Amino acid sequence: MPNAYISGTGMHVPERVVTNDDLREQYGIDTTHEWIVQRTGIEQRHYAPVGVGTAELAVPAAQQAIANAGLQARDLDMILFATLSPDMHFPGGAVMLQRRLGVCDGDSPRFMGAMDIRNQCSGFLYGLATATAMVQTGGCKHVLVVGSEIHSAALDFTTRGRTVTTLFGDAAGAVVVSATDEDRGVRGWWLGADGRHVDALKMEIFNTAKRPFMEMESTDGYARISPEMLWPHMEGKTVFKNAIERMCQALMQACWEKNTQLEEIDLFVFHQANMRINQYVAKQLNIPDSKLIHNIHKMGNTTAATIPTLLSEAVDTGRLTRGMKVAMVAFGAGFTWGAALVDW
Ligand SMILES: CC(C)(COP(=O)(O)OP(=O)(O)OC[C@H]1O[C@@H](n2cnc3c(N)ncnc32)[C@H](O)[C@@H]1OP(=O)(O)O)[C@@H](O)C(=O)NCCC(=O)NCCS
Repeated sequence: MPNAYISGTGMHVPERVVTNDDLREQYGIDTTHEWIVQRTGIEQRHYAPVGVGTAELAVPAAQQAIANAGLQARDLDMILFATLSPDMHFPGGAVMLQRRLGVCDGDSPRFMGAMDIRNQCSGFLYGLATATAMVQTGGCKHVLVVGSEIHSAALDFTTRGRTVTTLFGDAAGAVVVSATDEDRGVRGWWLGADGRHVDALKMEIFNTAKRPFMEMESTDGYARISPEMLWPHMEGKTVFKNAIERMCQALMQACWEKNTQLEEIDLFVFHQANMRINQYVAKQLNIPDSKLIHNIHKMGNTTAATIPTLLSEAVDTGRLTRGMKVAMVAFGAGFTWGAALVDW
C-alpha cells in the first residue's frame, strides 16, 4: 500500500482588507475593534470583489499547489472541493474548478472525478482523509484537495448580524495529496460528528420540507425569505464550548492511537474559529505557543480554507519543513470535527 503525502500547497487571499473599524465605519455595524479583538483575536479579514465566486477564488490556490507538487492540472486523478459557500446550489464547486483549470479542453482532455465536501470548518480534514484513502487504496496517484470560501456574499451586514458577520473572511487554500513509497505522509485521520447540534450553527436558506421550498411572493416566480433563513445563525457559547472539548478529544485520540506523545509533535495546525478557543485547547493540552501557527488575526475564520492556507504559509515561510511531525485539528458546524497526523 503506498503512503499518501502532501506534495504541494497553495493559497489565495483576495486583495481587499476589511478592518474591524471598517465594519463600523463603512457598513454601519455597531461594534468596536476592541470588542472583536478581545473576544476573537480577529483584527481584519479579506473580502473578494463582486463578480468573483468561490470556485474562481480557488483557481490560483489550486494552480500553486499543483505547480509546487511538480505537476500539471491534467496529472490529477481527483478534485475534492470543500466549501460551505458554493457558487450555487448545484452543481458543486469541484466541477466549476475543474472547468477553470482547463483540463477538459484541448486535444487530450482529462475528465477526472470532481466531488464536493460539505463539512464546513472540518471540510478540509474530511477532504484530506478522503484523499488519503483514495491514494492508499491505489485508486488515485494525485488528489487535489481545496478549501475555498466566499463568506462576504452571505453575511448580514447590519448590527443584527454582528456576532457572526465579524468572524468570517474570504480565502482559498489547496494541497495535492500524492502517492509515495517513501516512509512519510498522512499517518492517520480521525473524523467525528454530533448531529444533535445541527441547529447550533446553520444557514437554512432553502427548506425542502416546505412545499414549495420558499414562500412564493407572487405568481411571476419571485419568492420571499425571512432573515432567520437567509442569514447564518449561531449559538456562540454552545459552539465555543463544544469546539474546545472536541478539538482536545480529537487530538488526544489521534496521539493515543498512533502511540505518539503530544511533545513529539513539531507543529500544531488548528482551525481558526476564535483565538480564544485555540488558546484554551493549547492550555488544556499543555502545548507551547511556539508550536502553534495562526492566521485568524489577519484573515478571520475562513472555514474550509483555514488549514490549507496555514499549511501553505508555513511552507512558504520555512516554518514547516520536511521531516516535521504535524498535527491538524478542526471543528465546525454540524457539529463535525477531525484531526490528522502527518509526517511532512
Ligand atoms: C461569537 C462569540 C465571540 C460571542 O461571544 P459571547 O461572549 O458568546 O457573546 P454573546 O453572543 O453572549 O454576546 C454578548 C454581548 O455582546 C454583543 N455582541 C455580539 N457580537 C458583537 C460584536 N461584534 N460587537 C459588539 N458587541 C457584540 C451581543 O449583542 C451581546 O450583547 P447583550 O449582552 O447586550 O445582548 C463567541 O460566542 C464565540 O467565539 N463562539 C464560537 C464561534 C465560532 O467559533 N464559530 C465558528 C465555529 S467553526
